[in-house]
Amino acid sequence: MQKVAVYPGSFDPVTYGHIDIVQRGRKIFDKIIVAILHNPGKKALFPVEERLVMLRDSMKEIPGITFDIFDGLLVDYVKSSGAQAILRGMRAVSDFEHEFQLALMNRKLNRDIETVFLMTGMRWFFTSSSIIKEAALFGGDISDMVPPNVHQRVKEKFDQLKS
Ligand code: PNS
Repeated sequence: MQKVAVYPGSFDPVTYGHIDIVQRGRKIFDKIIVAILHNPGKKALFPVEERLVMLRDSMKEIPGITFDIFDGLLVDYVKSSGAQAILRGMRAVSDFEHEFQLALMNRKLNRDIETVFLMTGMRWFFTSSSIIKEAALFGGDISDMVPPNVHQRVKEKFDQLKS
């Protein structure tokens, strides 16, 4: 049986930290479904379709991955996609409490689905979508935290918003 994991997230936008987790995850799972949560209630910088384009482009060299958009409960999506596990990245200790709660709630909702945590590379410990957006908004250099295509789109987005 193929080992399949769903790697869910907001990916607003994708960072090198996300790419690192998918590369590590592929050493364990035969297939990874990178799934973007479509949550109209949460204000995002990029529409979900644009996030999908950036993800595809940033991960095009990694074999064995597919991309999707989901809404509703993650465990329902995982079940319907035929995956057995949820893949999540863990950076510093500050991620732990939230991830722990999420994993326990998901286990309560569906006991057949396991959450697997992978540590991001040390280089990406302080990289998050929210911190890169804040840095870029105020003109900070984010070029070593996101792929060039994402860097370009973030710049364009803030230019648009400011004009
Ligand atoms: O990249 P993020 O924002 O940390 O990802 C969070 C995500 C998408 C994994 C989480 O919000 C999620 O799974 N949302 C879907 C609703 C759900 O199933 N929530 C968990 C149980 S209440």
